Amino acid sequence: MFDVTKVKADFPIFKHHPDLIYLDNASTTQKPGAVIDGVKNFYEKENANIHRGFYKIAIETSKNYQSVRTKAANYLGAADSKNIVFTSGTTESINLVAQSFLEPRLEAGDNVIISAMEHHANLIPWQMLCQKKGAELRVIPMDQTAQLDLSGYKKMLSEKTKMISVVHISNSLGSVNPIEDIIELAHEKDIPVLVDGAQSVMNYEMNIRNLDCDFFVFSAHKIFGPTGVGVLYGKEKWLKKMQPIQFGGDMIKEVSFEKTTFADFPQKFESGTQNLAGVIGLGHTIDYLEKFEKKEVMKYLEMLGKYAIEKLSAIENLKIFGNSNHNSNIISFNLKNIHPHDVATFLAEENIAVRAGQHCTQPAMDLLGIPGTIRASFTIYNSTDEVDKLVKSLKSIQKFFA
Ligand SMILES: Cc1ncc(COP(=O)(O)O)c(C=O)c1O
Repeated sequence: MFDVTKVKADFPIFKHHPDLIYLDNASTTQKPGAVIDGVKNFYEKENANIHRGFYKIAIETSKNYQSVRTKAANYLGAADSKNIVFTSGTTESINLVAQSFLEPRLEAGDNVIISAMEHHANLIPWQMLCQKKGAELRVIPMDQTAQLDLSGYKKMLSEKTKMISVVHISNSLGSVNPIEDIIELAHEKDIPVLVDGAQSVMNYEMNIRNLDCDFFVFSAHKIFGPTGVGVLYGKEKWLKKMQPIQFGGDMIKEVSFEKTTFADFPQKFESGTQNLAGVIGLGHTIDYLEKFEKKEVMKYLEMLGKYAIEKLSAIENLKIFGNSNHNSNIISFNLKNIHPHDVATFLAEENIAVRAGQHCTQPAMDLLGIPGTIRASFTIYNSTDEVDKLVKSLKSIQKFFA
């Protein structure tokens, strides 16, 4: 049985802030003691650079670093640890694919497809590239309930489409996008697809091979891991062909003043000293996640999401954006005639942490005709009691502004 009290006790931040109701998990999650201790332990007992030393701790750390690659591959259901490139996060992973994979293949007159609800990290890299190459950035439309228009998507696919990059779960609206359909339709025309899994990697029984996307990206800090470390999953056929975009130590085969040959993938993409503590921390994060029965976690999160939607929907003059049947733990809403920043400021006074604003999806907010939303995002240490406290506070904010 999933025991939220026990889970919450795994996270030391709540010992230091016992009254904190942390509902900003889509922004970043809190870290369990096991991950914090793992990183501390690394610095205290194992710290050494990788792939360089002949001494014990250097050899151990090199081994441990590579073993996290295997853990990440298993976690995603990837065929091989070679499919996993460590990056600094989702943002860097997308930029790497844009510059290393797409840039050499993109020509004037081609197009790249994203959706209307992309995080800026999955919009600007493609926009910059399209501008540089004279290509077109096409946007899958969404309706007012934050659902993507699949028939519109079908129509915009053409032989000039060179890449599709779409968010799985919207960070600002909570929509769960029909990523399987998007990939299938793209692959009928041999178009590669990147899935931005920053918000979905935790919520779904991931199996990259079943999903069959060409690239999948996520950040460790959204799944209880350290900041500054992320993963780029890529199919072998692409990673093999891609050229590195950053050059330096630890990514080469041979170097002379005349020429350089590169190491095989994924190492050729990991130049310089990597975020070793971050990667080691990601390994502890995956170990932590794998202690849970995934089905139980999913069941708990589904119950919590439904409970929150039901309670929030019952508040008068509260509008939930996105589809209220959505099965994610991100709920975006506004209170009529009260600015989202004011709501978040009042909630902060009550020790309730939410995010308010555009959530790095300004074009999506513009399409909805709003300055932003209040976003409550829930995870495994949140409880129905916390939802009740949020609801109570929202009602008193409404009374204050009435
Ligand atoms: C859907 C989505 N994509 C990309 C990002 C960027 O992630 P990071 O800042 O960890 O690189 C985020 C972060 O909020 C996100 O939610």
